[in-house]
Amino acid sequence: MTTYSSAVVPDIPIDVIDLPVFKQAGVQLELLRLDLVHPLISGNKWFKLKYALQAFQLSDCQRILSFGGAWSNHIHALAYAGFEQGIETVGVIRGERAGQLSPTLVDAERWGMQLEFVSRWQYRGKSDAEFVARLRDKYGDFYSLPEGGSGEWVIAGCREIISLFDAAAYDLICCACGTGGTLAGLIAGKPEGATLLGVSALKGGDFLYADIRELLAAASIDDPGGWSLALDCHEGGYAKVSSRLAAAMQYFTQHSGIGLEPVYTGKALLALLQKLERGEFARGDRVMLVHTGGMQGLRGMKQTLLNRLA
Ligand SMILES: Cc1ncc(COP(=O)(O)O)c(C=O)c1O
Repeated sequence: MTTYSSAVVPDIPIDVIDLPVFKQAGVQLELLRLDLVHPLISGNKWFKLKYALQAFQLSDCQRILSFGGAWSNHIHALAYAGFEQGIETVGVIRGERAGQLSPTLVDAERWGMQLEFVSRWQYRGKSDAEFVARLRDKYGDFYSLPEGGSGEWVIAGCREIISLFDAAAYDLICCACGTGGTLAGLIAGKPEGATLLGVSALKGGDFLYADIRELLAAASIDDPGGWSLALDCHEGGYAKVSSRLAAAMQYFTQHSGIGLEPVYTGKALLALLQKLERGEFARGDRVMLVHTGGMQGLRGMKQTLLNRLA
C-alpha cells in the first residue's frame, strides 16, 4: 500500500461524467477523484492531515488527540496515519461505547487508537477548559486536532486541492461541507474569477458562513468572494438520507461506475442536479464536483440507501 509519510501529492484523476441530464443541457460534469488519493487516508482527509502531522512532529507532544462520531472519516484516517507513522492517537468519540463498535471504530482500535467515549452532552462541551483539563490529566500532553481535522493547518492543506487542476477553466467548482474547512482551503487557493459552491451536509448550515470566514481570517487570508453555500440539500440533517438523494446517487453510479457516499459527496451531487433542474447552468458550462472520499462510511449506510430506493 502507498505510504502517506512523505505526503507527496499523487496524480489525481479527473473523470468526465456522462450523466444524460447534464449532456442534454450541454453542461460538462467532471469529478475530481480525491477518493483515490489513498486507500485509507481518503479524500479531503489526506490534505487536512498533511500539515497537521508535520506540525505535530515539530511539537513536543507525545500523541495526537481528536474528536468525532462513530462513523467519522476523520477519526478513521487519523488512526491509520498514526499507525503508519508510529504516532500515538486518541479519539474522543461522541456517545457511549456500543456493545458492537462501528466498523470505523473497530478499524481505529485495530490501528492502535485509544478510544475515549463521552456522552453527547459532554461532547458538546469538548472545548470547555474543565473537560480539556480532564483529558490532559488522563492522556498527558497531546496535540489537539479539532473535529473533522479542521484545525489551524486545514487551509494550508486544502488549498492544494484546487491547484490539482486548472480551476480557472471551470464555471463552478462544488464540494460538500461539514465544518467548512475544505471549502475554506479551496477559497484560499482559488484563482481570481473562479466560482465555488459549498453544499452543507448539515441542517442549519448558516453557521458555515461565519466559520469559513473565521478560518480564512485565522490564516490571514482576505475573503476573495466568489463562493456561496447551498443550504437546502441536507435532506433532513447530518447523515440523513432521502429517497431523492438515494435515487441521485444510484443514477450517478449507474452512468459513471463510480461510487459515492450519501453523507457528503452525494449531497453535493444533489445540489448540482437541483441547480441543473432550476436552469441555473448555461449551455457550454463546465462543472467540477470534488469527490471528497469517505467511502469507508458507506459501510453503515448501505441498508438505509436500499430502503430509500424501495
Ligand atoms: C468525506 C467527507 N467529505 C466532505 C467533508 C466535509 O469537509 P469539511 O469538514 O472540511 O467541510 C467531510 C468531513 O470532514 C468528509 O468526511
